[in-house]
Amino acid sequence: MSHVRLNTELTFVYAVHAAVSTGLLEGLARGAVPQELDPGVVDRVLDVLASRGWVRHDEGGWVVAPWLVGAGPFDIGRMAGILGHTDRALRDGGTVMRGEVRHTADVVRGLARMLARPAEHLARELGPCGGTVVDVGCGAASWSLAMLGNDPEARVVGLDRDTVLVGARAEAVERGLAARFTGLPGSFWETPFPRARRVVLANVVHLLGPTAGAALVARCAAALEPGGELVVVDVLEGRPHDADVAAYALQLRLREPTGTVHTAETVGHWCADAGLGVTRVIPLRADIAGLAALVAQSSTTNPSRT
Ligand SMILES: C[S@@+](CC[C@H](N)C(=O)[O-])C[C@H]1O[C@@H](n2cnc3c(N)ncnc32)[C@H](O)[C@@H]1O
Repeated sequence: MSHVRLNTELTFVYAVHAAVSTGLLEGLARGAVPQELDPGVVDRVLDVLASRGWVRHDEGGWVVAPWLVGAGPFDIGRMAGILGHTDRALRDGGTVMRGEVRHTADVVRGLARMLARPAEHLARELGPCGGTVVDVGCGAASWSLAMLGNDPEARVVGLDRDTVLVGARAEAVERGLAARFTGLPGSFWETPFPRARRVVLANVVHLLGPTAGAALVARCAAALEPGGELVVVDVLEGRPHDADVAAYALQLRLREPTGTVHTAETVGHWCADAGLGVTRVIPLRADIAGLAALVAQSSTTNPSRT
């Protein structure tokens, strides 16, 4: 990289930081530049953001790009709230305060919209299971509700915090699937899992270190009927130095002391330790690099271990 390019890159980073921390972007998203900011500097900062398409100038003044606005996990205010802790975390290894990152019904419904296409793809790849699907840490239950679409005999039990289940129920109602969705409020460490033909564990193991990840996979495995399957969805095929994967891994670490990206190989070992055989890894076409589903089956002959 040339020094001029380095200067441009750094300027962009600091311009974004300032636009977020001063409320400039949020103000613009609501239709007005905050009055206390210096108008001349505002224009220079916004010119820098405009160079990457984050904002544009039209007859009415500055407007933010539509993709910068909105709730969901990648809402810029939420992301900045997490990333703003990077320097502190570097010094003391700490994480973001719980309340700042806890998934809310809004955040998980934003996630559901992002995951709609890969969820449909996974449902088609897996085919019907004809029984109970337990969705552990279900969020808005994107993955399991998509599975109901091509599986008329199946029903979903979604396990998550009660505040999050509000979002899952709303999704189920919106898709006309409320009669086949049951919310099970509680912690996946304490709440007994119902017997399942299929257990979905999506975007949860990235919150856990290896010991807890293996323990949760074992809990899921123990709930499976003979011949049932565990489906673990996560960034399982990410290369650590891919820009998206490196950014994701840093954000996970800022959120949880054990937050990290695990490989399909690691999760496969946890499954084997829990008595499951990995049958396949399905790459998921998604904006999130390396997102994949690992499918592991319990033996058809093993008696239940619950
Ligand atoms: C990143 S979200 C994934 C949501 C969903 N599975 C998906 O892929 O869209 C992680 C979810 O795990 C839930 N979660 C985290 N710890 C939990 C616990 N101990 N018990 C139950 N749910 C938990 C969170 O509330 C959140 O909804």
